[in-house]
Amino acid sequence: MEQRRFSTTGSRSRQRTWTIIGELIDVHLDAKIFVAGHRGLVGSALVRSLRMNGFQNLILRTKSELDLTNQSQTEDFFAAEKPSYVFLAAAKVGGILANNEYPGDFVAQNLQIQTNIIESARKSNADRLLFLGSSCIYPKFASQPIKEESLLTGPLEPTNRPYAVAKIAGIEMCWSYNRQYKTGFLAAMPTNLYGPGDNYDLETSHVIPALIRKMHEAKINNSSVATIWGTGSPRREFLYSDDLADACLFLMNLDKRRFDSLVANDQTPPLINIGCGSDHSIRELAVQIAEVVGFRGKLTFDTTKPDGTPRKLLDVTRLTSLGWQAKTTLSQGLKQAYQEFLMDSQPLLSGELAHRIG
Ligand SMILES: NC(=O)c1ccc[n+]([C@@H]2O[C@H](COP(=O)([O-])OP(=O)(O)OC[C@H]3O[C@@H](n4cnc5c(N)ncnc54)[C@H](OP(=O)(O)O)[C@@H]3O)[C@@H](O)[C@H]2O)c1
Repeated sequence: MEQRRFSTTGSRSRQRTWTIIGELIDVHLDAKIFVAGHRGLVGSALVRSLRMNGFQNLILRTKSELDLTNQSQTEDFFAAEKPSYVFLAAAKVGGILANNEYPGDFVAQNLQIQTNIIESARKSNADRLLFLGSSCIYPKFASQPIKEESLLTGPLEPTNRPYAVAKIAGIEMCWSYNRQYKTGFLAAMPTNLYGPGDNYDLETSHVIPALIRKMHEAKINNSSVATIWGTGSPRREFLYSDDLADACLFLMNLDKRRFDSLVANDQTPPLINIGCGSDHSIRELAVQIAEVVGFRGKLTFDTTKPDGTPRKLLDVTRLTSLGWQAKTTLSQGLKQAYQEFLMDSQPLLSGELAHRIG
């Protein structure tokens, strides 16, 4: 039997049965599902995956409709809607530069958003909640690949410590609520993500969107050089956003026995890594992106810019032992991301270029 891929065995009335490795799992198609941050890189991938799997009862609010840093707004929303499942993908997110420039915003807004949602989900008796953190929660010099057990065993990477400390507080909150209130709150730590709807603003973006945009602009401006920040030697793991969404649905649909093995344990936090299990140096990544974009010029490295953590590869044994594996290779993902960028960015580039060419 084709193992990994979710497959429906025909929907009976409003119930759909999923098979994963021969085990049957019932999921109600009309389950009320709140995706916080549904317009973001992760949130939009979750919405695509949920809809593709037949879930139609999604509750979605933009930041202007519901500011999740506002406690009373958030509690009123949950009291009114009472979602059964909550995907907590709303957060203040950004690259090295943004974390350096706005540390206060990163710690305060992330603490407010996650605290308001986790407490409101408890009060409105949500069945399950998935809190999305990030691999920067682990010590800067954690042994590689990074196991969940290495949490709080050493100093963090200073450039994004405020953000990381907020995420660690979120993990502790999920664990504490599971122990005190017997909630089903799970914290998932994805590796670096990229994909449709990514942020291509060069001031605040992550490495893949920044390099795709830089090399595309260098190509269309006939520049002979594209500059990459840092030495090029740091190694990073990258996961395509639709794969991450697939893993999140997989986790939230685990049968009770396996879900409880993750959340109902007083000895270990309800924590699970999500990654693809392999990494690349920034130099290798830059060469792959130049290939995908068709930039034939010279790649240079600006060593005055910070490298960040030397290596960050997650240990995904816990997730793969449950039966999930990533399926999009980096080269496939980069090709798809570049096509998305070309489709989404024409107005941005022509405006920029027009301004620049003047
Ligand atoms: N990107 C990565 O490489 C990565 C890697 C690992 C983990 N993660 C985790 O994944 C989660 C989502 O990250 P992302 O990359 O999808 O970020 P993103 O693209 O910046 O999306 C964040 C979303 O949160 C919403 N949001 C922010 N502040 C809000 C507020 N006060 N009220 C309501 N909504 C608010 C934003 O709304 P607007 O669209 O209206 O601004 C946006 O839709 C985060 O927890 C992050 O830690 C991301």
